[in-house]
Amino acid sequence: VFDRIDHVGVAVDDLDAALELYRDRLGMREQHRETVGEFGVEAVLLEVGEGHVELLEPTSEDSAVGRFLARNGPGMHHVAYQTADIDAALGQARDAGLRLIDESPRTGIRGSRVAFLHPQATGSVLTELVEPAH
Ligand code: CO
Repeated sequence: VFDRIDHVGVAVDDLDAALELYRDRLGMREQHRETVGEFGVEAVLLEVGEGHVELLEPTSEDSAVGRFLARNGPGMHHVAYQTADIDAALGQARDAGLRLIDESPRTGIRGSRVAFLHPQATGSVLTELVEPAH
């Protein structure tokens, strides 16, 4: 059900400073920038082959990423796996007894459908499932 790694999510407190690193110094192409209201973040996708780095700056302190930054500071936030059928992937995780954050998919960046598994169920690695918009 998991087709490939879609992106690695990185929490940042300053998107433009992070772009100076990833885009200007590491040379990754900036592909997309979007404020994702559902998650309270401004996000940038950088191109890494078919995958991405997703930089996330919270737009509010009580968003999940805002709370993460307050607790941990900037750094690696989540890994996202791409699936062609997120309902099946989520059902598989549920049937396996894994704790979910999202019982049903939400709308993520670029109109994708996304859902998070609870890090307590995944060895403290926050795990996202992504079904790209068709
Ligand atoms: Co993500």
